[in-house]
Amino acid sequence: MGENGPDMNPLIAEEMNRQIGMEFNAAFLYLSFSVLMNEYGMRGAGRWLRAHFHEECGHALKILDYMEQRRTEVRIPQISTDSYPWETPADIFRIALDHEKLVTQSIHNLLALCRREKDYAGEHLMMNFVREQVEEECLVSDILHALERCGRDESALLQVDVRLDALAAEQTH
Ligand SMILES: [Fe+2]
Repeated sequence: MGENGPDMNPLIAEEMNRQIGMEFNAAFLYLSFSVLMNEYGMRGAGRWLRAHFHEECGHALKILDYMEQRRTEVRIPQISTDSYPWETPADIFRIALDHEKLVTQSIHNLLALCRREKDYAGEHLMMNFVREQVEEECLVSDILHALERCGRDESALLQVDVRLDALAAEQTH
């Protein structure tokens, strides 16, 4: 460690490892939600959530790659397998939005830490994530609100599902 590159502050390294865990947790959450939505019969939502699973893995890998480039030890935390009670598709996206908000807070804390420790490369990486989180929260809350407006109206839910399917198709191209 640190033989070929600049040493990373151990506290920042610890927090980045924790952030990798959070991103993989988000990925796991989206993957399990995609399975639930497919089972529920909303395959568009399932597809969107599956696409987002890949997106979250990408976030985790971006930090992981960065740590390797900084010759810093990567320690991937265990994924939490908590399950969340839900009744409607809106519940699923509410849980996802709550998780995104936790991720945003964690990114902000990490950015503040990098800034305090004058780790400019780390600060730059986290700045990209700050912008990313604005988009993530916006996207998930848009879907949540659309689903909330549907209530239990099957035909309205179907319409949202078709839109999500199209959105997922855009994301994967
Ligand atoms: Fe993420």
